[in-house]
Amino acid sequence: MQLRELTTELVERFKKVKIFEKSEAEFLATIPLGRRRRDAYLPIELSKRDVGKIMRLAKKRESGMPLDLVLGNMNFYGRDFIVSKSCLCPRPETELLVQWAGQNCSSSSKTLDLCSGSGAIGITLALEFGYNDVTLSDKSKRALKIAEKNASALGANITLVHSDLFKTVQGKFDVVVCNPPYISKKEYEDLQNEVKNYEPKMALVAGETGLEFYEKIIKQLPAHLNKNGKIFFEVGSGQAKSVAKMLEKDFENIEIKQDDSKIERMVCGTIREKI
Ligand SMILES: C[S@@+](CC[C@H](N)C(=O)[O-])C[C@H]1O[C@@H](n2cnc3c(N)ncnc32)[C@H](O)[C@@H]1O
Repeated sequence: MQLRELTTELVERFKKVKIFEKSEAEFLATIPLGRRRRDAYLPIELSKRDVGKIMRLAKKRESGMPLDLVLGNMNFYGRDFIVSKSCLCPRPETELLVQWAGQNCSSSSKTLDLCSGSGAIGITLALEFGYNDVTLSDKSKRALKIAEKNASALGANITLVHSDLFKTVQGKFDVVVCNPPYISKKEYEDLQNEVKNYEPKMALVAGETGLEFYEKIIKQLPAHLNKNGKIFFEVGSGQAKSVAKMLEKDFENIEIKQDDSKIERMVCGTIREKI
């Protein structure tokens, strides 16, 4: 069978399960074979083994597994990150959080990516913005393992800490960047199965209101920030003002930033100096 026939067959099969984006078939037929999407319609003869491999992956996609997870990696800020069911697949909005922090702090800042998941935030700060003292921490050992693989594959020199929020994180930081779980229990119940079945609940759910992690983190932050230390949070839709309010007690220069869909998606603040 030729690659172009395989791609065409996948396009048709995917339509039957309401996957209408041709790109999905094109990526699936090429990336696992070490090729580029643009090769998808080339008359290249494939071995039976390669066809079998692609068909097995196609079945996973047809059963509802998101394409990034089927492929086992995804692009974030121009780099390929390994992803698995153990960690959240980083979202495009999070690239804006990285950009905001990266462009507004010194690359010599001692930086913590709290609730780091795949490590996309901290690793990108290190590689794209030259941050030279980055720590990633997460409560999930499995997510940390993925972050470790990503750091090693992409050549980022970072420190990894297994910790329930700040419990075992040592020292103080100049910058904390954090995309914590922020979905309420009720919202979680209403999520589509593609998310519920394939992304870890602990990466998503934050109590009854969705604000539980911000409350806990903001209380603990003053003890973990240096003078002029900054926090950059990603927040869920409709949460920015509540998070900004929580920051008011100990932080100043509080700012809210929108994502490309004009949703208030990020909040930052600078720790207020105690007089
Ligand atoms: C929304 S995901 C964000 C992952 C990654 N930072 C990103 O932006 O793609 C939240 C992460 O918080 C981690 N997490 C959940 N509870 C935690 C806790 N108590 N302490 C530290 N990390 C926690 C989860 O394992 C998950 O990796």
